[in-house]
Amino acid sequence: MSDTCSHTNKIDDFKCTVASSEALSDRIGWLTVRCRVLAERILPGTCVMVFPSDSNDPLLGRPFAVADVDINKGELSVCYMVIGRGTEMILRMSPGSEVRLRGPFGVPLPSVGGKINIAAGGAGIATFLCFAKKYPEKTADIFLGIPGRGYEKYAARISELLPKVRIFTDDGIFGEGNSMFKVLPKGLGESERIWSCGPPGFLKALKKHYEDEPDKLYFSLDKRMACGYGGCMGCVVETVNGQKRICADQSLFRADEVTDYGN
Ligand SMILES: Cc1cc2nc3c(=O)[nH]c(=O)nc-3n(C[C@H](O)[C@H](O)[C@H](O)COP(=O)(O)OP(=O)(O)OC[C@H]3O[C@@H](n4cnc5c(N)ncnc54)[C@H](O)[C@@H]3O)c2cc1C
Ligand code: FES
Repeated sequence: MSDTCSHTNKIDDFKCTVASSEALSDRIGWLTVRCRVLAERILPGTCVMVFPSDSNDPLLGRPFAVADVDINKGELSVCYMVIGRGTEMILRMSPGSEVRLRGPFGVPLPSVGGKINIAAGGAGIATFLCFAKKYPEKTADIFLGIPGRGYEKYAARISELLPKVRIFTDDGIFGEGNSMFKVLPKGLGESERIWSCGPPGFLKALKKHYEDEPDKLYFSLDKRMACGYGGCMGCVVETVNGQKRICADQSLFRADEVTDYGN
């Protein structure tokens, strides 16, 4: 199929073609779109806004981390929790239909020298998928917590992309047990880090777990977004260094820099 992506205006909106839209559990969707120009611009940790409709209802795009890029096919994917109207509409998109994406936005994940461990809850792993795929040598252990039954397809997709992911399920039906907190490394080395993303309760529990070494723990936070380009101040996080915009200033926040755990 030809690449039907076209650049629609100067603020980096792209008309893309839906390659596939799948449910990987009753609450997790995976959308793959074809747009070579946009796919080639993605750096690990950057995001796109997916517009659920062309009719301006809903008006705002929904922000998601880019979970995967296939440069050969000119495709990119997002992985998302289905929680409201916008994500329900995205889940219903049909292959071959047109969808508008804006991006990429956000600050790419730093290409650090030390050892990175990843701890994610639910769809939070999406933020780190491109990084872990691109830099396997920099990524130490990857921990993912999910509910369990009904999430087998999702677990299989993540394991396919990140063969060394360690999966934990709340119900203990599959994976390595019911809590990653029993095995998360502590006493981290000087250049070792934990990068994390997930629901606020999960991030709070991580902060408690690492209360003796909060400088080693970093959060990727979700906030409500409108513009994606630093203009609306909608995505501000309060930090000890002042307000930071997720879309323009900072992608990762040290646990002891913030009291905000995102939305
Ligand atoms: C930079 C960034 C990257 C993100 N990446 C991902 C990702 O890779 N995968 C993923 O599943 N989600 C991600 N999110 C969250 C995602 O954008 C929201 O869940 C989504 O916009 C909700 O759209 P909706 O129309 O379905 O829900 P709405 O109908 O708008 O809202 C339904 C419920 O979801 C809550 N909600 C709305 N927006 C957010 C938000 N930004 N964060 C948390 N809760 C929200 C609302 O308070 C409400 O309770 C990201 C958010 C940001 C800011
Ligand atoms: S979304 Fe507008 S400033 Fe970040």
